Amino acid sequence: MKILITGGSGFIGSNFIKYWFKNHPEDSIINLDKMTYAANPRNLVEFENSPNYKFVKGDILDEKIVDELVSQVDTIVHFAAESHVDRSIDDPSLFVRTNVLGTYNLLMAAKKYQIKRFHHISTDEVFGTIELDSTDQFNESTPYDPSSPYSASKASSDHLVRSFFKTFGLPVTISNCSNNYGPFQHPEKMIPRSITSLLSGGKIKVYGQGLNFRDWLHVEDHCRAIEAILLNGKIGETYCIGGLKKGTSNMELVRLILKLMNKGEDSLEYVADRPAHDNYAVNWDKINKELGWEPKYDLESGMKQTVDWYTQNQIWWQETKKEAEEFYIKLNSLNK
Ligand SMILES: NC(=O)c1ccc[n+]([C@@H]2O[C@H](COP(=O)([O-])OP(=O)(O)OC[C@H]3O[C@@H](n4cnc5c(N)ncnc54)[C@H](O)[C@@H]3O)[C@@H](O)[C@H]2O)c1
Repeated sequence: MKILITGGSGFIGSNFIKYWFKNHPEDSIINLDKMTYAANPRNLVEFENSPNYKFVKGDILDEKIVDELVSQVDTIVHFAAESHVDRSIDDPSLFVRTNVLGTYNLLMAAKKYQIKRFHHISTDEVFGTIELDSTDQFNESTPYDPSSPYSASKASSDHLVRSFFKTFGLPVTISNCSNNYGPFQHPEKMIPRSITSLLSGGKIKVYGQGLNFRDWLHVEDHCRAIEAILLNGKIGETYCIGGLKKGTSNMELVRLILKLMNKGEDSLEYVADRPAHDNYAVNWDKINKELGWEPKYDLESGMKQTVDWYTQNQIWWQETKKEAEEFYIKLNSLNK
């Protein structure tokens, strides 16, 4: 396969490139990434001199670059996005441009060059929220009901992707996954933020009373699911991907991190809740039955591996941690 990966220098994209080369060394990858604050050039240094890997710094909104790169591949795996809910509350416009118009650009080029597969990475956040006391789960037929500008922009991009299948017969697949965790995740996101705060001698910030819940998917399990869809998924279909354990509350999660890092509850700090804070749980029966995929990581072993990685790779996150905390200070001052 000749694959164009968009957003390959971010968290999931870089894990996916590592995973793909490990398991499909004969394939070639072009990574188109704008290198926003969320990207880290250290993520993919091991491929810098590889003949099968090419990095292009560029924007998916740039029609010329997109056209030139899409003409060289047969497959697109589209990760590039503005991905942080709290930043979409601060400034929604970039989310609409990158996530909606950027996806549109890629779709137009994919149509022009008759790409064999366009796989779109999306989120379970497009489905909205589950009531706090409910055991409901999202699945592929759950109606879309996004709550944040981030999830609304991802929902729009999903609709565009689906429309290019229905209208033009573009061979697309979509996956809607739950929250990912694992190595190389920016310290603005909940799990790395919590771990790096403890490693820096600070406290874990808990939104509200920590009652909100979600599924947690280890990034490597996510990469295996994308592989299963690329190799055996049915064109035009959507697949939901989630973790082994359903509906982990934020309180349960931070207590697990405290336990793994030998800290007590005095290392928690309760802060104002996020507006429109959702709850998520994902039913992944379809991908399990049709493609034989299931998560390998349980939350405890995945979290231990993640804590160990952040403990051993402090140089990777120290600078971005500072910027992330500055962003939260700015956001809090705007909300007062
Ligand atoms: N992280 C999660 O828990 C999660 C869960 C569900 C779905 N997703 C989806 O998975 C995808 C990847 O998420 P992530 O957590 O790796 O995000 P990330 O923020 O870590 O990385 C995004 C990458 O996209 C690049 N990018 C942003 N705008 C771009 C543009 N205009 N042109 C080219 N590149 C651009 C950034 O530089 C960065 O490298 C996103 O589409 C996100 O919506 C993420």
